[in-house]
Amino acid sequence: MLRPLLAKTDLSVYAGAEVLLSEGIDHMEGLRELCIAGTNVLLLEMPFFRWNERLYKTVARLTCSGMCVLLAHVDRYPLEDVKRLFALGAVGQINCEAFAHPLRRRAYRALVRDGFVRALGSDIHLPHDFRAKNIERARLYLGEELMEKLHAWGDAVLSSAYRIEP
Ligand SMILES: [Fe+2]
Repeated sequence: MLRPLLAKTDLSVYAGAEVLLSEGIDHMEGLRELCIAGTNVLLLEMPFFRWNERLYKTVARLTCSGMCVLLAHVDRYPLEDVKRLFALGAVGQINCEAFAHPLRRRAYRALVRDGFVRALGSDIHLPHDFRAKNIERARLYLGEELMEKLHAWGDAVLSSAYRIEP
């Protein structure tokens, strides 16, 4: 279904999933099949209730299992909780609108600089005009060097990923 549409765009599309974390999901058969296809990157969504110790342990077991746990939209959660997950070996994706937040954007920039945040998201929930503006704002705020760093990680991951061809 996607292929005819891809022919009309210059977007590159890869097969993958955003996986909602539940306790003990690391024991789920076939979990690796939900990684971005062709990679060991698992895009993980944390639940929106307060995280208990068992959830942190599940994340720890996932990172120890050799998968690269990429936390989706880390800007939606308390920074201190997210930092605990980074300390367990996870890395993060952040939505570009996070860099519009005057009180938090310095901390988010530091997470990119220090290699904890590895990917930006445009957030499909927003109207197109907002998304384009947020992407540009993030690009300007992060600067060329950090944008290069993000691109390099993205290129490295996607070099082995399964790209859906038109
Ligand atoms: Fe999500």
